[in-house]
Amino acid sequence: MGRIGFIGAGNMAGAIMGCLAKEYEMMASRRSVNALRALEDQYDITTTTDNAELASSCDIVFICVKPQSAEGLMSELSGVDFSNKLVISILAGKRISFFTERLTNCTRVVRAMPNLGLLVEKGATAYAVSDACTPEDEYKAHILLNAGAYAVKVEEDEIDTITAVSGCGPAFISYFLKSLEDAAIRHGLGKEIAQKLLFQTVLGTCEYLRTSDLDYDGFISKVASKGGATRAGIDAGKREGVDEAISAMVDAAIGRARELGK
Ligand SMILES: NC(=O)c1ccc[n+]([C@@H]2O[C@H](COP(=O)([O-])OP(=O)(O)OC[C@H]3O[C@@H](n4cnc5c(N)ncnc54)[C@H](OP(=O)(O)O)[C@@H]3O)[C@@H](O)[C@H]2O)c1
Repeated sequence: MGRIGFIGAGNMAGAIMGCLAKEYEMMASRRSVNALRALEDQYDITTTTDNAELASSCDIVFICVKPQSAEGLMSELSGVDFSNKLVISILAGKRISFFTERLTNCTRVVRAMPNLGLLVEKGATAYAVSDACTPEDEYKAHILLNAGAYAVKVEEDEIDTITAVSGCGPAFISYFLKSLEDAAIRHGLGKEIAQKLLFQTVLGTCEYLRTSDLDYDGFISKVASKGGATRAGIDAGKREGVDEAISAMVDAAIGRARELGK
């Protein structure tokens, strides 16, 4: 695999590093020296505040800064020859061409969209590859990204939508769970018992849907019989525009991902 570097070693890079720890030789960069010391202690890796030094000494370079910092980072890396390197970007919105057009001799780029399930090695990651990526590059990218549970290759044009579904998904699902929990508490249930029941409900529902032949509507009709409590709740959700609200959340996230790519 060679040496793997992470530029912008924040939350998401840390989650990926956590899935790869012990197996690979890794290096990380960010501006905060204190945060780098903490990463050295946590993962037994080398660190630097010099992004060009990191890129020069690594075979695979993960780019993990915020999209807003990407242009500045490209200038910092202008002196590095990327001809023998594989770049893996996790930046929302930034297309593969953003990197190939700005980095010297950079042609082999993977654009990945991970999610924070990686923190517990239950991540979902989609990735697209540049035309110049070799089968070996694709294999390596898949091994690294799949270490966090599930990785799938997609077309680059699908990634902004994926950003809004699985990239933002952990926060969207938490938002939905918090609404359910707040409503339960409003009706007198204790927070701890509400939370435990909701977490287990999500796990059970996902596991059932993942392994059964039923689609969502089939499953809902199984639970929501006519005249019952579940049906009353779902009908209220439809009346109050829950579908429209969720659709608006996804549309807004896709729109923002596209803006970040400009
Ligand atoms: N969070 C998610 O759920 C998620 C999901 C999918 C994709 N992503 C993508 O992942 C990327 C990182 O997101 P995040 O949530 O991990 O953000 P984050 O925690 O803020 O991490 C970004 C890191 O970049 C470092 N940084 C900023 N400027 C830098 C520079 N010039 N050189 C080196 N390091 C620099 C920052 O540390 P210093 O201030 O110490 O430099 C910071 O720790 C984003 O592009 C986002 O689109 C995030």
